[in-house]
Amino acid sequence: MQDNDTAQGAPCAVISELEPVPVAGVVPVAQTAAAPPAHGEDFTAKLAAMQQLNARLIFMRDEQTIFEEVMTAAQSVLGYDICAVFLHDPAARALRLRAWRGYDDRVRGFSIPLEREIGLCRLAFTEDRPVYSPDVMADPNYCMADPELCSELIIPIRSRRGPIGVFDFGSRALYAFADEDIRLCCTLVDHMAISLENLRLFDELASTRDAIILGMARLAESRDGAMGGHLDRICAYSRILTEALSRQGTHARFVDEEYVETITRSAALHDIGKVGIPDEVLLKPGHLTPGEYEIMKTHAGIGGATLEEMVNRHGSFFMLKMGADIAWAHHERWDGSGYPRGLAAEAIPLSARIVAVCDVYDALTSQRIYKAAIPHDRARDLILAGAGQHFDPTVARVFTEQAGEFQRVRSRLRD
Ligand SMILES: [Fe+2]
Ligand SMILES: [Fe+2]
Repeated sequence: MQDNDTAQGAPCAVISELEPVPVAGVVPVAQTAAAPPAHGEDFTAKLAAMQQLNARLIFMRDEQTIFEEVMTAAQSVLGYDICAVFLHDPAARALRLRAWRGYDDRVRGFSIPLEREIGLCRLAFTEDRPVYSPDVMADPNYCMADPELCSELIIPIRSRRGPIGVFDFGSRALYAFADEDIRLCCTLVDHMAISLENLRLFDELASTRDAIILGMARLAESRDGAMGGHLDRICAYSRILTEALSRQGTHARFVDEEYVETITRSAALHDIGKVGIPDEVLLKPGHLTPGEYEIMKTHAGIGGATLEEMVNRHGSFFMLKMGADIAWAHHERWDGSGYPRGLAAEAIPLSARIVAVCDVYDALTSQRIYKAAIPHDRARDLILAGAGQHFDPTVARVFTEQAGEFQRVRSRLRD
């Protein structure tokens, strides 16, 4: 796919400022043929296409999609035959091929060991600079010949912490990279690097948020000793049920991929208000008196109001907003006989109707100090019997269709 050692150069950031001067620092060693053709008349159009791509890259939330978009631009806008993205794998001390165009599938899994190999990609990465070889076959250091590859440009992909990989542009023409195209390639790779860095920061932030939210939920849950897998199971059940609703097109107005991901996390917050219930009620081993039960019921409002306040103070991001809905309404009933607000039917948020089924199934099939667990089949029948009274009939029907999946989660995530 590559590799040799031809150029000396300045960092990509220097040559990506798109000044109308020769590309300083990216000097082919084997520069003996004619100068590359100028593509000045195309430059404005290419630049416009690059700017449009950059605008799209900002919103991409998936690494592979970013690679594919950038490679598409490299081929369709810049006209290069071959592209490859290598990312550094520190554990393997290698550059691993993550995406490619212009090679067949046999390159899958290819990697360049940083310790053993010389070559263009290794050089660009270890010296953190672009490397350009206008005639790879004339270069004595070219070590992995692709018979069709004639010229190659390799640009480091940089994060704030240094290079994280390289982008390899290849052409079946000699001297295929004009100075201005090298600038565009550098700009393209720099923007890809920014998008990857944003993606990493976004993922880190999302993981931190999830950890804090799940930690809060676990703290609340730990008070009544119902530790074990309860929260993990509720989240897993919620995913199963919501994905099934989504597949069936039921409640399609609400349920999309983001909804599924959000409820899988937010469901853990359903009983967070238990943190506000006194020990003598929460930890009472026997049945509650009517007065104690009234106190216990306040956990829905305590949790809902707390999460709602967080939404009001810190902005309404979907996960917290759904968490508030679930905490408030997971004990509401379809026929309006639930608490704390006596909401009925579709006035109950869908997320809470879903979690209600999951929570009851888990409570029925779990052992408590004051009760034994009941078998899966019996729990399934009880939920079906509650359809249209306790539970949203559609959610209850989909639950019965997915009951086998629930049972598998139940046995996988034991207390
Ligand atoms: Fe609850
Ligand atoms: Fe619960």
